[in-house]
Amino acid sequence: MTEQLIIFDTTLRDGEQSPGASMTRDEKLRIARQLERLRVDVIEAGFAAASEGDFECVKAIAEAVKDSTVCSLSRANERDITRAAEALKGAQRARIHTFIATSALHMEKKLRMTPGQVLEQARQSVRLARSLCADVEFSPEDGYRSDPDFLCRVIEAAIAEGARTINVPDTVGYAIPELFGQFIRNLRERVPNSDQAIWSVHCHNDLGMAVANSLAGVKIGGARQVECTINGLGERAGNCALEEVVMAVKTRRDYFGLDVAIDTRQIVPASRMVSQTTGFAVQPNKAVVGANAFAHASGIHQDGVLKARDTYEIMRAEDVGWTANKIVLGKLSGRNAFKQRLDELGVHFGSESDINVAFSKFKELADRKSEIFDEDILALVSDESVTP
Ligand code: KIV
Ligand code: ZN
Repeated sequence: MTEQLIIFDTTLRDGEQSPGASMTRDEKLRIARQLERLRVDVIEAGFAAASEGDFECVKAIAEAVKDSTVCSLSRANERDITRAAEALKGAQRARIHTFIATSALHMEKKLRMTPGQVLEQARQSVRLARSLCADVEFSPEDGYRSDPDFLCRVIEAAIAEGARTINVPDTVGYAIPELFGQFIRNLRERVPNSDQAIWSVHCHNDLGMAVANSLAGVKIGGARQVECTINGLGERAGNCALEEVVMAVKTRRDYFGLDVAIDTRQIVPASRMVSQTTGFAVQPNKAVVGANAFAHASGIHQDGVLKARDTYEIMRAEDVGWTANKIVLGKLSGRNAFKQRLDELGVHFGSESDINVAFSKFKELADRKSEIFDEDILALVSDESVTP
């Protein structure tokens, strides 16, 4: 059987940390239901101890969602962990995700704790979380910038206390794909009890490499969970984009050799919902979910796609939730694309030379107008054409 890559969606937690992206309880519930339709394995619903409002959001999502595991983030302390457990009480499948920073910089300047204290706190927190919830994930925050020897000790202790997912974050998006992949692999080889946990990666996009780093964590490092968000929403430059990582693994199954449970036809609806809810527009050239991701403007490409779609398409627009691919008529379009659009509009000409005349008129118009709409074409051909 093919191994599974677990998709852990954190749109409602890390995604919401994007300045200006905060969501109401009802908005979060709507998105959580869409994530369930998308069949993500784990939904990180929020950070229950952060506020009364966030507690209520996690609780409502835990009660509503049936098919995905519902998770709450918690710092590695007693109050956060017990709040997370309380909020998750109604869940069919619950997970507590507890974290503490392990880089020298974070321990000294932010936590003002010694490495020994951090190790002990990680140990006790996982132990407490496990006493309240069967499914516990542990993250060493700023893991990628942490000393590997120390990191190995913390991870070993977390697994010994019962953490069944070890998530290594590149909290500040500092990693380079090959190096990150080797970093994960090295940790997995050095931690003595590493095979008792599923390894996960959580990459930020500060250098635009969150997806590449996550995929390297999977391919080189052997991670089997990826943490990601819809449209790559998240702190600063965002998180690893779910739609990109999922379609990379599916489209290049020959390379990754992994399955994902995602219903990819729900990707575009999820992207639209998150964009409309947060007011964060999706750039037109964004992979998979951008308006131009399956649009063809050049005559050569249009001609190719009309003859065989895979000449210029590596995925099907319909498979990720678009109704169809798009032939955009403009000055670069060829006669073939023009004729195809006439057919779709039910416009027919008596002879090939009439089509040539109409095509010349179309080209003249296209030099003046960047995109030609169906109404333009209908106006252009209204005299000469034969419409049924
Ligand atoms: O980026 C990060 O380190 C996080 C952790 C809390 C997992 O979001
Ligand atoms: Zn993060």
